[in-house]
Amino acid sequence: MFVKTREENEYKMTTEELEGSITEHTRALIINSPSNPTGSAYTGDELREIAAVVRKHPSIFIISDDIYEKIIYDGLPFATIAAVDERLKDQTLLVNGVSKSYSMTGWRIGYVAGPEAVISAVTKIQSQNTSNPTSISQKAALAALTGNHEPTERMVREFQNRRDYIVKALNEIPGIKCLKPQGSFYVFPNVSAIYGKSFEGRRIDNSASLTAYLLDVAEIAVVPGIEFGSDDNIRLSYATSMENIQKGIVRMKKALDSLQP
Ligand SMILES: Cc1ncc(COP(=O)(O)O)c(C=O)c1O
Repeated sequence: MFVKTREENEYKMTTEELEGSITEHTRALIINSPSNPTGSAYTGDELREIAAVVRKHPSIFIISDDIYEKIIYDGLPFATIAAVDERLKDQTLLVNGVSKSYSMTGWRIGYVAGPEAVISAVTKIQSQNTSNPTSISQKAALAALTGNHEPTERMVREFQNRRDYIVKALNEIPGIKCLKPQGSFYVFPNVSAIYGKSFEGRRIDNSASLTAYLLDVAEIAVVPGIEFGSDDNIRLSYATSMENIQKGIVRMKKALDSLQP
């Protein structure tokens, strides 16, 4: 199940929300910080509070998806739960990869760290299901992880500029409210104030109809928030050039301006 998070908490779950979601059937808690789709990132202190809840449930695993570890802004230090509370190490599976930090999506290299028994089972299943990554990809990932990180730092600075631009530009469009995310390369604006409006008989009343409208009329591809559990939002990626982002914003504004109450 999804833990329903709230905009006023920057879409980060509170300990009460987490506690209220754990049942006897809960096997694992997936944490993804910085997050896809909201861009929110937990601080070390926030994770420490979450850790205290999970420690009361020793049979629950934590799957910590740290894929956006390096894509974090404004000097916020990256925090991950098993480092914040080492007592959770035996309960935690840390998932990461080179797709985001080194822009190596196509190389298909990910990795998991965790208790030996689980990793041994993961290895067995993976080698039967998907075979193994090529030695070429493995060497490339090794070079990325052990090499100079300046290119990643440069990329993150550029992402931060794009985030600053897209958040400001979206908030200037009537009906859109966009929080400023701390990481990843997505924004998850609340667009619910647009619902109920129409264009030539075409009524926008949820995130799917808004997404279809933006695709048809503005030729912009966004993802409906309902896919992530929130119909009030859409997800936009800014992993594209500043020029494309600016063009997209102009088209989006024009398409939304055409909507009638
Ligand atoms: C939350 C999350 N985890 C992991 C991944 C990495 O996927 P892959 O390693 O298959 O490229 C992504 C990529 O979109 C993601 O958003």
